[in-house]
Amino acid sequence: MVDNKVIDGKLISSEIREKIKIFGEELKKKSGKTPGLAVVLVGENPASKVYVKNKTEKTKEVGFNSIEHKLEESVSENELLKLVNKLNNDENVQGILVQLPLPKHINSEKVLDSIKPEKDVDGFHAQNVGKLWSGLNSLVPCTPLGCSILVKKLASDLSGKHAVIIGRSNIVGKPMAALLLSMNATVTICHSRTKSLADVCKDADILVAAVGIPEMVKSDWVKKDAIIIDVGINRIERNEKKILVGDVDYQDCFEKCKMITPVPGGVGPMTIACLLLNTLLTSYSQFNQEAPDLTSILE
Ligand code: GUN
Repeated sequence: MVDNKVIDGKLISSEIREKIKIFGEELKKKSGKTPGLAVVLVGENPASKVYVKNKTEKTKEVGFNSIEHKLEESVSENELLKLVNKLNNDENVQGILVQLPLPKHINSEKVLDSIKPEKDVDGFHAQNVGKLWSGLNSLVPCTPLGCSILVKKLASDLSGKHAVIIGRSNIVGKPMAALLLSMNATVTICHSRTKSLADVCKDADILVAAVGIPEMVKSDWVKKDAIIIDVGINRIERNEKKILVGDVDYQDCFEKCKMITPVPGGVGPMTIACLLLNTLLTSYSQFNQEAPDLTSILE
């Protein structure tokens, strides 16, 4: 699993989903209800369509109900808000995910903040963001949660370690910083305006790349024996073939680092597993069932 240099997110995530299924079956028996995850897709973004299809498939695989809503690119903000409101009040829906990015004419923040915080399985609602940064129990964004699970498998306490994150998005960079801080790392967030980016990265014991630029991180940006978490999923064409690559030049960095997540098969599948984990969590509270100790899911 993490015995060799490659951090196998595909395997780790499938083990997590297996355990979620077992806990889910128990919850269904006790409550007589089935957890439901609603996913809203607006428009025809090809990458978003693939993500939503995968999320739907995996939701069904763990025995949860998947409720899919596909809306036209031209849908008004008001229509979308109305749908979210309906899902907020639907007792068959325990989690709501509105796939990003949304079309430009829609205010994403307004839509995300209209989701009931208790059903916010993306952890993007301001209330959940605030709780995360305050160290309170909250729903945590799925991609950084997945990354933190991978890092915890290698070291649960990062005291004295320097974690560098490239990217300051609300989806990954910022929540990742909060999670690494909670693990006692010293955290630096870098972005497009950071001076001497390569030098900052070179000091990282843990390097998280979430910038969306194919193979940007080269081996001379990497400290010897660093742990590299590559969040990038970039579709590029090479030798007349369409392939997926990360934000890290995997071949170039492999020798130098201690461990690395591949693309595909690293962080990507962990994101979906964490979405299902968040749906399980919201289901316990909405079904008025005490959540058992779920740490065994993450071991
Ligand atoms: N688009 C890319 N990543 C995500 C994610 O984690 N959640 C949502 N809702 N949209 C995304």
